[in-house]
Amino acid sequence: MHNGLALSPQMGWNSWNHFQCNINETLIKQTADAMVSSGLSAIGYKYINIDDCWGELKRDSQGSLDAKASTFPSGIKALSDYVHSKGLKLGIYSDAGTLTCSQTMPGSLGHEEQDAKTFASWGIDYLKYDNCENTGTSPRERYPKMSKALLNSGRSIFFSLCEWGQEDPATWAGDIGNSWRTTGDIQDNWKSMTLIADQNDRWASYARPGSWNDPDMLEVGNGGMTKEEYRSHFSIWALAKAPLLIGCDLRSMDNVTFELLSNKEVIDVNQDKLGIQGKKIKKDGDLEVWAGPLSKKRVAVILWNRGSVSAKITARWADIGLSSSDIVNARDLWEHSTHSRVKNQLSALVEPHACKMYTLTRRKA
Ligand code: GLA
Repeated sequence: MHNGLALSPQMGWNSWNHFQCNINETLIKQTADAMVSSGLSAIGYKYINIDDCWGELKRDSQGSLDAKASTFPSGIKALSDYVHSKGLKLGIYSDAGTLTCSQTMPGSLGHEEQDAKTFASWGIDYLKYDNCENTGTSPRERYPKMSKALLNSGRSIFFSLCEWGQEDPATWAGDIGNSWRTTGDIQDNWKSMTLIADQNDRWASYARPGSWNDPDMLEVGNGGMTKEEYRSHFSIWALAKAPLLIGCDLRSMDNVTFELLSNKEVIDVNQDKLGIQGKKIKKDGDLEVWAGPLSKKRVAVILWNRGSVSAKITARWADIGLSSSDIVNARDLWEHSTHSRVKNQLSALVEPHACKMYTLTRRKA
C-alpha cells in the first residue's frame, strides 16, 4: 500500500494472544512502559496495538465509536498521548462487519469514513481490521473502503487486513493494505505454529516493502511451546518477513522470552532492506531448509528439524541461490559465532523441534 509505511515488517505488541478481552488502559500503559524499560523499543518494537474489546457495545449519540468507560475511562486520545510520549505508536482494532469478533462492540462496516476520522482524531497509528459479522459480502468490497477512508483521514495510519486468507488476499491486498493475514488464528502450540508457517509460505512471492504476508502474531512467551519451539517460531517468522508482533505479557516476561525476542541479528534478517520473503526451499521428511536473499548479496538460511530425533541437516549452495564457487562466512545468529570460509554446503546437527539460523556473506575468495 502506498502510504509510506511498512517499508520493513511491523514490529510491536498486540493484546490478543495473551489477554483476549481482559484489557484496560492500565495494562496498555504498563505494556508501553515495559516495552521501553526492557530495551525492546530501542531495537525496533514500536507499535502497542489494542485488539478487540476496547469499545462500548453501542455507538455514541453522534454515531461514533466510543471507548468502554469501565476499562478505558480516560479515553483513547489520552492513551495515545501517553504511548506517544514514550516514543511508541498506538494501534487499534475494528472489523469490516456489523460487530467485532467478540461481539462486544460495533464493527465499522458502513461507517468507514467516520471511524477512520475518529481514529485519526485520537492519534491512532495502526488499524487491525477483522472480518466477523461481515454480511456475506466479499472482503474485496469491504476492505478497500476502509483503506480509502484511512488515506483520507488526515493521518498516516498503518492498515493491517485480517480476513484470515479467506479470498487469497496476497493476490489483491498489496494495493490497499500494509499487511494481510494469510491464515486462521494461531494457537500457542507446535502443531498450530508449524501449520501456519506452511500455509503462509505459499504466498511468499507476493510480499514486498509496504505490503507483507501476515501469519499472525507471536506466541513466544505464552507458555505453550518449549524454548526450542519458540526459537523456531521466531526464526521462521523473521525469515518470512512476517510482522513481529509480540503476544505475551511484557510486564512479566522471563529471561528466555526476552533473549528470543531481542535477538538483534535475527531481527535484522526480518527488517532487511531488500524485503524478500524467505521460504521453504527443501524438505526431506521432517528436515527442512528455509532460505531467502538479503541485501549486500547475503543469504539467510534456517536448518529446521520438525521431527522428534536429532538429525543432520544440509543446505547446498545450489539450493539456496549461491554458486558452487562461492566461499562464505556463516554467521550463526543464535550462537553469535562465525564459521569462516565455508564451501559448497552448510551442515549442522539440529535437535528435535529446533533450528539453526545463519546469515551467509560471500567472501572475495
Ligand atoms: C479474530 C482475529 C484475532 C483476534 C480476534 C478478536 O479471531 O483473527 O486475531 O483479533 O478476532 O476477537
